[in-house]
Amino acid sequence: MILVKLGGSVITDKSKDMTPRMDIIARLTQEIADSGQDCLIIHGAGSFGHIKAKEYCLQDGIGHPDHKQGIDEVQMDMRKLNGLVVDAFHAAGMPVASIPAGAISIFEDGELMELPANIFKHYLDIGITPISFGDVVVDRKKGVCICSGDDIMTHLAKELDIKKCIFVTSEEGIFSHYPPDEGEGPIPDIEHGQDIKFKSMNTDVTGGMERKLELIFNITSTGCDVILLNGLVPGRLKDALEGKEIIGTKVRGG
Ligand code: IPE
Repeated sequence: MILVKLGGSVITDKSKDMTPRMDIIARLTQEIADSGQDCLIIHGAGSFGHIKAKEYCLQDGIGHPDHKQGIDEVQMDMRKLNGLVVDAFHAAGMPVASIPAGAISIFEDGELMELPANIFKHYLDIGITPISFGDVVVDRKKGVCICSGDDIMTHLAKELDIKKCIFVTSEEGIFSHYPPDEGEGPIPDIEHGQDIKFKSMNTDVTGGMERKLELIFNITSTGCDVILLNGLVPGRLKDALEGKEIIGTKVRGG
């Protein structure tokens, strides 16, 4: 079984509020269906979550004067995006069960405490693909916080003894320096825990890459392999699901 995260930067236009990329959602869901692999799907928020979550400071809890409206709106917007992804799976002929993190998880001070993996396992056992997504969730200390799709990936990879995780992003993979040289590809293979020396003129970019690798190492520490690929390129997700060599970065489980 393979855990797949459809990143918000691929399935939405991150720069425009509530703008889905319908053609890409349709193609990626079709690639998953065509691969014939058993998958568990997570998706991110892109412009359906990050813009308002920031506006209402939801990562910090319930301090904003309009926090109630913020919680309601971001949850509603995420369910709209999830509805579009679910519709696309239906069009591709795949039965799915939508499991919102906000309905079943508990956080404490921004850390995921509970998210019952057995619900996902049950759907998988009866042949239905579970699909979850980043969400506004309850937090015992802060009132609420944001659960990212990455939080769900990390948790389920550990709990369900997953062997392969795929992050579908809008990047070719992990690069050790920015901008890459002309024609240079991403680092193809990284061992769990390998020390990569990142360098860039833009600290935001390297910070982002370093954080991403840290998150991936968290997953590979369970022995699971992680692949990062560019979902904007047709066929790459399907090839990776089928175990073919692709352009991207593979991080080997430790
Ligand atoms: C964020 O999820 C969820 C909300 C902001 C409600 P992610 O952090 O997984 O989303 P992307 O993939 O980065 O857009």
